[in-house]
Amino acid sequence: MSGEGPAVFDARVDLAADDSLRAFVGHQTLLRCYQARYVLLPADGPEGGVLAPLRRHYDAARLAALAELRPKLEAELIAPLVRPGEGDIGAYVEAMLAEIRGAPENAFTAFLTGAENRDDHYRNFLVQSSPDLLAEASASALGIIGEYGEPQSALFRILIDEFGYGVPAKKHSVLYRASMRSFGLDDAYNGYWPWFDTMALELHNAIHWLFQNPRNVFKQVGFLLHAETAYQRSTQAHHRYLRQFHPDADARYFAEHAHIDLHHTRMVIDEAVKPFTARFGDEAGHEIIAGAELTKAAFARAGDHLLAVSQAFVAASSSSYGHPAEPRAAIGRPVTPKSDLAGVGPVRVGALGVLGDPTDFAAFPPMAIGRVAA
Ligand SMILES: [Fe+2]
Ligand SMILES: [Fe+2]
Repeated sequence: MSGEGPAVFDARVDLAADDSLRAFVGHQTLLRCYQARYVLLPADGPEGGVLAPLRRHYDAARLAALAELRPKLEAELIAPLVRPGEGDIGAYVEAMLAEIRGAPENAFTAFLTGAENRDDHYRNFLVQSSPDLLAEASASALGIIGEYGEPQSALFRILIDEFGYGVPAKKHSVLYRASMRSFGLDDAYNGYWPWFDTMALELHNAIHWLFQNPRNVFKQVGFLLHAETAYQRSTQAHHRYLRQFHPDADARYFAEHAHIDLHHTRMVIDEAVKPFTARFGDEAGHEIIAGAELTKAAFARAGDHLLAVSQAFVAASSSSYGHPAEPRAAIGRPVTPKSDLAGVGPVRVGALGVLGDPTDFAAFPPMAIGRVAA
């Protein structure tokens, strides 16, 4: 399969040429499973028409093949991240609010403040966050359909905000597109698919896993509880950083979240957590805690990894900066720091740049992904 045609209909998954690539390829496949559950159309009509590639992409046999792989991938890749929740939900919420509000400065924006080549590090952040944010809230939308009482209406109101209250220009995914464009990046959904690394895929798969399995309904509330609260803080840090160091960049995405997620946190607590636990007791409370803890852990793993990759790139002696000009063509094959790197040629690392000496990549975090000429 080639990378020709619209990015949204690109269905490529890499081959696990060595064992260290297993998790990466598994996560790519799992995200393909999840993305196949919602509507994606290219921004412009493709040459030759849209119907043929649309039908190919959502072909029953392709969907069935993905659906068959999904339970095994979820068991292998997501289940080990989930821990049972315990304790009192009221105390948990209070402690979480205090912890997030009292948290130290955002580690990534703190790093950027002192970094050279800030643009490149920021571009990589935008790219690694894009699998979810370019279709923001499409994952959580799947938790809204059905019939489960009053909390459903509160969660639906949050969802409407995410989709801009019916105004395309206000949709969060559209605001995110503008941020990407202002850094000179392609804003097509999945436009940087080959460059999403294992930990970015893991985070987004954990979110989809929560919402594409109705049995996780209480864990979904836990996701929203943690994510809406933590997002106020992280988007505020990004907004401040952008204003200071990239005053021409489009920062509306971050400004909007620093504001609206204050309301979203309140809505989740008062209109979903409280009524659900009043109705279903500690059992529901524990599930909400489990969902919040999974979310916290998944964001921390992805965030720590992103920073560690940037730091490894700074430390590498053969690094040169610059994002891929044609992110979907001539992408080469993936490698990890454990792959055989001797004599493979330069290694490109996400949207950061290229390591002229491939053996420099061996010092990167174990879950990092690079690409070398095939
Ligand atoms: Fe949002
Ligand atoms: Fe929100």
